[in-house]
Amino acid sequence: MKKDIAKILLTREEIGEKVKDLANQIKGAYEGKNPLILCILKGSLIFTADLVRELDFPCTIDFMQVSSYGAGAETTGELRIKKDMDTDIRGRSVIIVEDILDSGITLSNLIPELESRGAESVAVCVLLNKPERRRVEVKPNFVGFDIENEFAVGYGLDYNEKYRNLPYVGVLKREIYEK
Ligand code: PRP
Repeated sequence: MKKDIAKILLTREEIGEKVKDLANQIKGAYEGKNPLILCILKGSLIFTADLVRELDFPCTIDFMQVSSYGAGAETTGELRIKKDMDTDIRGRSVIIVEDILDSGITLSNLIPELESRGAESVAVCVLLNKPERRRVEVKPNFVGFDIENEFAVGYGLDYNEKYRNLPYVGVLKREIYEK
């Protein structure tokens, strides 16, 4: 896998420090509220696993896998729920955990869905933010790193389902995704 990486964007250590920092910010805002940490599969698996181990107060964890169908140049499409959580979120403080915020389409469709289910609040924690790529305004509450518009893989992020298990975030060589 390593030979396919053009450069390391974020080392394991840099990510680890940032995850602790994000956990502290979340603690400040959510301790005592028993928030639901909602991991959006598959990319957020590793980030969520690391983040929750830094949260030293009660919270619960659940999972969803979503995409947006019908999203095109002019439209943001509709939310497609591939796997749903089983938590009843009425009255709960929900924190969506995402590996990357890109066009914003996924979150712009997911947030209203969770609000319509009766969540008391819905916040967003993203590890990587690509502001340049935004098509729909989404304001994440907790952000790890703003990154350039490069093909990032590793630490949960994939290309064709590969590279998720790299322990760092790297930039994929152009020849890999252009061949
Ligand atoms: C990625 C990421 C977000 C979404 C962000 O998921 O985890 O869910 O894309 O993109 P957007 O802001 O343009 O909507 P992906 O659909 O690649 O699925 P995966 O997490 O299973 O890899």
